[in-house]
Amino acid sequence: MIEPVEIAAGRLQLRAPVDADATDALLMLQDPAVRLWNPAPEVLDLADAREWCRRGANWADGQHATFVVIDATTGRLLGNVSLHSIDSEQHDAEIGYRVAPWARGAGVGTDAVAAATRWAFGTLDLVRIELAHAVVNPASCRVAEKAGYLLEGTLRQSYIYGDGMRYDEHLHARLASDPEPVA
Ligand SMILES: CC(C)(COP(=O)(O)OP(=O)(O)OC[C@H]1O[C@@H](n2cnc3c(N)ncnc32)[C@H](O)[C@@H]1OP(=O)(O)O)[C@@H](O)C(=O)NCCC(=O)NCCS
Repeated sequence: MIEPVEIAAGRLQLRAPVDADATDALLMLQDPAVRLWNPAPEVLDLADAREWCRRGANWADGQHATFVVIDATTGRLLGNVSLHSIDSEQHDAEIGYRVAPWARGAGVGTDAVAAATRWAFGTLDLVRIELAHAVVNPASCRVAEKAGYLLEGTLRQSYIYGDGMRYDEHLHARLASDPEPVA
């Protein structure tokens, strides 16, 4: 069981999703780049998006902590970031993220991943967090690097993405003992 929290990260707020996020969540999840690199194939309409928000907000199994990223000034949803596959015996987890098309290129992905990582190492007793992205998704690679996730290698043909094709992935990871990335 992980207690849902809110994280204040400067211009960003990270919190568990609520039903009112469903409209923007649906727009984000229908974006072609998100459908390719972070598919949520079961989210096709507003009712599905509401369910997606509810699943994201339920951290009771202790295996994920899913945040929406909110503009702290306007309250608009800008993206989401999730610690998932949390393994309390191995003390490790994975992290995934999406930024809505209207919020890209402004450091939201990097800042949200950095804030969620800081919280996770401080709260979840983790030693290692892994981050994987398709090699042909360089923007995601930059987010990983800038958030302090070291590139450890290439996983060959390791994941089927939203277009049904297998892609090579970069495996990045951060250790709790790694230094904070320089902004
Ligand atoms: C990838 C994604 C999360 C990036 O989020 P973002 O908030 O736009 O990222 P940031 O603004 O923090 O940083 C983007 C970096 O990528 C770089 N970048 C963007 N497009 C790029 C490209 N085609 N090639 C190389 N670098 C690129 C930017 O220049 C920036 O780096 P810089 O600060 O050194 O200039 C966002 O585009 C997204 O959600 N895309 C669709 C889904 C996805 O790919 N999710 C990740 C799956 S692992």
